[in-house]
Amino acid sequence: MVDQQCQDEKRTIAEALENEHVHKVYDQTAHYFRNARYKAWPKVGHFLNSLEPGSLVADIGCGHGKYLDINKTVFTLGCDRSAPLCSIAQQSGHSVVVSDNLRLPFRDACFDVVISIGVVHHFTTVQRRAQALKELGRVLCPGGRLMVYAWAFEQKHRTVAVGFNFSKRKMFWCRGATNIKSRNPSLLHKRYYHVFREGELGGLIETFIPEMEILESFFDHSNWCVVAQKNGV
Ligand SMILES: C[S@@+](CC[C@H](N)C(=O)[O-])C[C@H]1O[C@@H](n2cnc3c(N)ncnc32)[C@H](O)[C@@H]1O
Repeated sequence: MVDQQCQDEKRTIAEALENEHVHKVYDQTAHYFRNARYKAWPKVGHFLNSLEPGSLVADIGCGHGKYLDINKTVFTLGCDRSAPLCSIAQQSGHSVVVSDNLRLPFRDACFDVVISIGVVHHFTTVQRRAQALKELGRVLCPGGRLMVYAWAFEQKHRTVAVGFNFSKRKMFWCRGATNIKSRNPSLLHKRYYHVFREGELGGLIETFIPEMEILESFFDHSNWCVVAQKNGV
């Protein structure tokens, strides 16, 4: 009973933190992405372009949708918690659904490929990161492949907050509380990130999605990337 109360409290705090320092920040800065031309990371593009034509792909945490039309021979469905970002993706002609990575609105084993680029690091507890990864594995069909990117500890912008300066319309990294306070706080939107140590992301996948086999793990664009395959035909 006390244990359950503790769990509930922990969840409420985690949700409040993510609402304030992840979802609200993406919602408030979404309009910036309307005309922005962010380049796809080459290794993600290469992975998507290597897929078999006709594959059904889910991009969980798709943002404004930069990976949704990389490979025009596959069908890609985007999913994001931010309604304003989904609306931008939709206006570019993409198929998207507003939903939470922790409770994906899809049946088990329905996608050939799932990608999660820069999303899992936004969950504030290990239980929530594990739950997010479990959901990615659940919706993947046997034999299906998963690509996950999450921010690395082993990089120069090792920090827990990324600022967004509205007047300059650009993001910047803050190394610590002093730096954050020294800037005009009204211009700052601090985003929460968990930084993964080498092996941590793969370890979580192996522990919480035992039916996945890790095919590849590498460092790219200050993130750790894991490519894994679900057992079965
Ligand atoms: C760093 S952005 C990456 C966007 C996109 N994957 C890309 O690489 O351009 C992180 C995205 O994760 C989304 N996100 C954060 N928490 C989420 C959650 N619980 N469920 C679904 N999406 C979430 C944010 O709204 C945001 O669009």
